[in-house]
Amino acid sequence: MQQHKANCNHVSRNCKSPENPAFVKEIVDTGFLLDKDQHHSHIVLGDIRVDGDEAAIKMQSNDYLSIASDKRIAAAKAEILLEQGHGDAMSRVFTHDREDVYKSFEKRMASILGAEDAVLCMSGYNANTGIIQAFAKQGTNVYIDIKAHASLWEGIACARARARPFRHNNIDDLHRKIKRYGPGLIVVDALYSTNGKICPLEKLVEIAEDYACAIILDETHSFGCHGNLGGGIAVEMGIEDKIHFRTIGLSKAIAARGGVVAGSKRNMEFFRYEAFPMIFSTSVLAYEIAGFEKTLDIINSETWRREKLHENHAYLRDGLLSLGYDVGECDSQIIAIIAGSNPDTIILRDYLASNGIFGSVFAPPATAEGAALVRFTINADLNRQDLDKVLGVFAKARYELDLDCVPRLCAFDLFQAAE
Ligand SMILES: Cc1ncc(COP(=O)(O)O)c(C=O)c1O
Repeated sequence: MQQHKANCNHVSRNCKSPENPAFVKEIVDTGFLLDKDQHHSHIVLGDIRVDGDEAAIKMQSNDYLSIASDKRIAAAKAEILLEQGHGDAMSRVFTHDREDVYKSFEKRMASILGAEDAVLCMSGYNANTGIIQAFAKQGTNVYIDIKAHASLWEGIACARARARPFRHNNIDDLHRKIKRYGPGLIVVDALYSTNGKICPLEKLVEIAEDYACAIILDETHSFGCHGNLGGGIAVEMGIEDKIHFRTIGLSKAIAARGGVVAGSKRNMEFFRYEAFPMIFSTSVLAYEIAGFEKTLDIINSETWRREKLHENHAYLRDGLLSLGYDVGECDSQIIAIIAGSNPDTIILRDYLASNGIFGSVFAPPATAEGAALVRFTINADLNRQDLDKVLGVFAKARYELDLDCVPRLCAFDLFQAAE
């Protein structure tokens, strides 16, 4: 695809900035990974560039259904933009009573999610901060999985609520904490973005019912990819009516910018007028909604995309497992190889990139200290040849890389290689 090239030739004027006061300087100096690792670009960037390499296998974006460059979506947006311009760039709080494209998209989302009502937000980040800020007060217990997305933690800070973190996907730890501290919100991702694991939703529902808690389920990575019409994990499990709140970033399978919150009619009406991001920030624009609608049409009619995504994931995961890589925990569409330290992660990423395989580095604060990883997001466009190439590189890495995350070769492998 012909990418739009940014014009980087602007001559920078000789602009000056004021000197940082000492406390700002200290924050910037200590927080910047660049200097910490003595690496000349930020750890997440890397030096081997993917741009223009047609043979490269790119598993970095969250465009799971390979829909981002679909011209039908661009055309749907362009049509509205050219006909109506941007429309109202204002907070939705003043216009919720209109029966307009916003409302009709919200109704469609509610129906796909099997929820009474849904509210369109500016992003998944906003949906998550807004939902906790709106439904928790200062001191409310918020039981949050330690791997839940950063925006959910931010929501707890916005509400000044009491974070009660529990071990990743660990029901026993959650149970212990709820028994100790009492009712509150239980906050989890349906499908975790750093390891591809699915949350134990049925057990979470049981605990929530037993202890008068409410669940916030972030379906950002599962929406579009799981369940009937892509309604997500709760829909796939048939327990959507047991979850109080679901949030979705439209930035993954929908490959756009926007978010959605879903729940009961009463709670959603409260959210529309009480969540800070709904009041104090400008809404997405009408032409963007035309894009969401077209994307949903495509996802609903082209179910092969979902099927291919899961088929590709299973093929790659099984292949890596048989090579001895520790990826058994990656339930769906994401494969993560935990390299551990930042330098080991850079070695793994650079080795793969130099062999034409591109994943993304996740390092602290996006992971725990010493648990940095390279993540590969699978997509529907990858074919068998691509996946075999990836497996071939991982097989070769066992001979060429000395890292803890790369399986040691046994005598049989060496014997085969010698033949
Ligand atoms: C699990 C999860 N929730 C929320 C978000 C935020 O979504 P958005 O990019 O739409 O703001 C992300 C994005 O990285 C995510 O991975």
